[in-house]
Amino acid sequence: MQKRVINFGITGCGLMGREFGSAVARWCHLLDQDVMPRIVGVCDSNPAMLDWFTENFESVQIVTQDYHDLLNSDAIEAIYCAVPHNLHERLYVDIIEAGKHLLGEKPFGIDMAANERIMAAVQSHPDVLVRCSSEFPFYPGAQQLLRFIREERFGKIIEVQAGFLHSSDLDPSKPINWKRRVATNGEYGCMGDLGMHVFHIPLRAGWFPRNVRALLSKIVTERPGPGGHMEACETWDNAILACEVQNDAQHFPMLLETKRIAPGEMNTWYLRILGTAFSAEFSTRFPKTLRTLPYTPGSAQAWHALDLGSESAYATITGSIFESGLSDSIMQMWAAFCDELAHRDAMRQPFYCATPREAAQSHRIMTAALLSNQDGAVIELMNMNK
Ligand SMILES: NC(=O)c1ccc[n+]([C@@H]2O[C@H](COP(=O)([O-])OP(=O)(O)OC[C@H]3O[C@@H](n4cnc5c(N)ncnc54)[C@H](O)[C@@H]3O)[C@@H](O)[C@H]2O)c1
Repeated sequence: MQKRVINFGITGCGLMGREFGSAVARWCHLLDQDVMPRIVGVCDSNPAMLDWFTENFESVQIVTQDYHDLLNSDAIEAIYCAVPHNLHERLYVDIIEAGKHLLGEKPFGIDMAANERIMAAVQSHPDVLVRCSSEFPFYPGAQQLLRFIREERFGKIIEVQAGFLHSSDLDPSKPINWKRRVATNGEYGCMGDLGMHVFHIPLRAGWFPRNVRALLSKIVTERPGPGGHMEACETWDNAILACEVQNDAQHFPMLLETKRIAPGEMNTWYLRILGTAFSAEFSTRFPKTLRTLPYTPGSAQAWHALDLGSESAYATITGSIFESGLSDSIMQMWAAFCDELAHRDAMRQPFYCATPREAAQSHRIMTAALLSNQDGAVIELMNMNK
């Protein structure tokens, strides 16, 4: 099949920049693709981060510490930007204004004001495709939950629970990094870091909350800095958000949690939807298992556990009985971005990447949560679904 090649530049060649590189390197894993990303330029302010790319990708032509070199290149059509949160505003705005398509990392701005300036750039460049990174909905179990939501299987929704859980910060000897500092990660703390993962499917389902009440905690207050001296950890470790969702069809509580310190949990994403006719849950802790509970009045209430195969949004060479993992979901997200870039409204499957509007909605939730925690109050949110 003739493939449309999309030439990419990467700005921020750290943890996530490399994950994109790895997805590009094994693009042949995807079947029936008529698009193919190619990494043409790489940029990182730390030159040591660039070697892995130049060693592994013969396609790289531009190697730079200044992202403007990527924006000024006619060879580059799209940018993946994965830098600390304090840089999102300046870099995303510059990328969009340069007319480059953008997959930007969450949270799309360090705070609401930064997000609003990114949104203004998005709105004044409607031809530029801008999407926010969020890969967990591409796990096969999450795709199945999305199908159940589309099919309105749940009856009256009783409650929705969603969360993202880490535990490595339980270790007080873990060195401080940019995510523990307000200047680089933002006031949102663990919410800015993990929130988009949790909000993505609820927002896509139309469950933007009408109000938020939040409890935020700081647990480990200092960590070893670069010189071995203890430095203050400024950001929230854990957040619990109790929200009320009300739309035309449904009215239910939604509990959202983003935690850096959830003992024993390592990158656990979960979504549980409980309804009067059907309940379903999926967690990356048990990546092969989808749990469902169909119910008709008077019948037994029994959870069913189904072993999932590897089938996600786009077909792959992986045998359908094999299991899926994080790198697979990242590659599926990239397939969705490239598919949408090439085909726009005629994507080859229905689930597109998180939109700037969904990122903006996540900022409203997180800003309300900060206020709620500060004042011990319920914060009303204007309904952005309309
Ligand atoms: N989608 C996910 O699952 C996921 C996971 C982790 C992080 N993230 C997000 O990805 C982004 C980056 O996080 P990370 O974990 O990859 O961080 P990282 O620290 O591993 O990488 C960031 C890179 O940006 C570089 N950088 C800093 N300033 C720069 C500049 N001015 N120009 C070019 N490069 C610059 C740094 O040198 C570093 O190599 C953040 O927005 C974060 O929230 C997403």
